[in-house]
Order: sequence, then C-alpha cells, then structure tokens
Amino acid sequence: MRCEGQTFVITGANGGMGRATVSRFLEEGAKVVAVDRSFDTKSVLGDCLFVEADLTDEEQVKGIFAKVEEQYGKLDGLINVAGIAQAATPITEVSLLQWEKIMAVNVTSLFLTSREALPLLEKNDGGSITNVASISAVRPRPGLQSYIASKGAAVAFSKALAIECAEKGIRVNVIHPGPADTNMLGQFAPANANADDVKEETFRKSVPLGQLIQPEDIANAALYLSSNEAKNVTGAVLHVDGGRGL
Ligand SMILES: NC(=O)c1ccc[n+]([C@@H]2O[C@H](COP(=O)([O-])OP(=O)(O)OC[C@H]3O[C@@H](n4cnc5c(N)ncnc54)[C@H](O)[C@@H]3O)[C@@H](O)[C@H]2O)c1
Repeated sequence: MRCEGQTFVITGANGGMGRATVSRFLEEGAKVVAVDRSFDTKSVLGDCLFVEADLTDEEQVKGIFAKVEEQYGKLDGLINVAGIAQAATPITEVSLLQWEKIMAVNVTSLFLTSREALPLLEKNDGGSITNVASISAVRPRPGLQSYIASKGAAVAFSKALAIECAEKGIRVNVIHPGPADTNMLGQFAPANANADDVKEETFRKSVPLGQLIQPEDIANAALYLSSNEAKNVTGAVLHVDGGRGL
C-alpha cells in the first residue's frame, strides 16, 4: 500500500493509460480523483471521485480542484495522462485550428491543471506532478509535427516547473511512452490507411524490444514517480518505450 492516505488527480482516466493508472493507484490504497471529458468506464474503475471536465476550459479545471479541496483538503499528486493524437498529415494540409486544438489539449491543459494543483500540493507540504508526453518528441515521425511540438512543449514546461517548485518540495517529471496498445495508437495513421496495419507495420516493428507498450507499464512508471521512492527525482524524463528512443 504505497499510496495509503494519499490523494491523486489522474486525467485522461477514461482512456487506455489513464484507466490502468487509476486501477494501479487504487490497488496501492490511493484516493483517486478521476478526470475525463466523459466516462463509460465508471463500473470498471471502481471507487473514485469522478469529475467530467474539459481540461482546456479554465473554469472547468478550477472546478476540478475546488472539488478536491472540498472533499480532501489537500493533494499529494497530479498525473496528467489526457491527450489527443494527430493523424499523420503533411504540414501544408494542417489547419491552424487543428494545431491550436492539439496545443490546447496537450499543453495548455498542463498549465491549467498545474496552476490549480500547486496550492493544494503546497498545503500538503509537497507532492508531485507527472506529465505523460511521448517518445516521439525525441524520435519524431513524419506528419506528426503538431503533436510532437505539443509533447516537446510538455517537457520544457515540466522542467521549468520542476526548478520553480523545487524549494516547495514539489517534484515535476515526465514519462515518454513508446507506441502503446491503446485506442490512440491507430489514430496516428494517415487518412485512408488501415489503422491495424499501421499499428503493426509502423509502430510495433519500430520497438526494439519487439512489443507495444502496455498501459500498465505507464501506470507503474507513474506510481514510481509519484512515490517516496522517487523523492530525489525531479525534472526527469523517463522513457517507457521498449527502446524506441534509441
Ligand atoms: N498510445 C500511444 O501510443 C501513445 C504514445 C506516446 C504517448 N501517448 C500519450 O499518452 C497519453 C495517454 O494516451 P492513451 O493512449 O491512453 O490515449 P486514449 O485516447 O486512450 O486516452 C486519452 C484520454 O484523454 C482524454 N481527453 C482528451 N482530451 C481531453 C480534454 N480536453 N479534457 C479531458 N479529457 C480529455 C480522452 O477522453 C481520453 O479518455 C496521451 O497524452 C498520449 O498523447 C500515447
């Protein structure tokens, strides 16, 4: 029970990695505030405080942390798993609106959630923020320029926050998943391509260890980075990618 008596906000909780992360933290005795746009997995996830919110909306994000304060009074950690993909598309065919949407969900949401979480982490005399980015920020693929830019910004933001918050005992780290076995993976396929073929031919075969990353791998990494075992780890980027970044 590594999280007994501790409270965590986990975003993207209805998605592949988010669901696995919620389950892992519940197993370890955490109180979990599960956040997503909507839920069809409440019965699978079990005993959480569910909050349906759009993470790009300032007022809705404030609402999430108001609920946390009301219910628990403090926070031990925030794990930002939510994100959206980009279908591989040449930049000449990407609209400004598409770029802005990806940046809003994958970057602005980190700013909004971190800003609201920090006072609650301070009340707790410290804690952690873990942001899920992507190994593609280190090893890009063609056609994913907007998504990759958003994940690069997530890393820079996390490191900036790590140094800003260190004196408060608040750690900020990043996980870079490699190609992972969730619904999102097929969404990186170019229009008109077969998503299953792309998953196998482009993604699975690109992983040196030979298999797609499992959502549970990311959950375990998030648990480690949120735990006392990582008490001296901040500003770090943990690759959970089967060697894809090599
Ligand atoms: N699947 C992969 O291969 C892969 C690889 C590298 C990084 N990642 C990153 O891992 C994270 C989790 O991805 P996943 O594979 O579990 O994807 P997923 O699509 O299964 O889950 C993402 C979740 O984020 C939620 N979400 C999206 N926009 C939101 C918003 N505005 N407000 C609230 N919730 C919102 C979705 O509803 C969804 O439940 C993402 O940040 C993704 O970019 C995924």
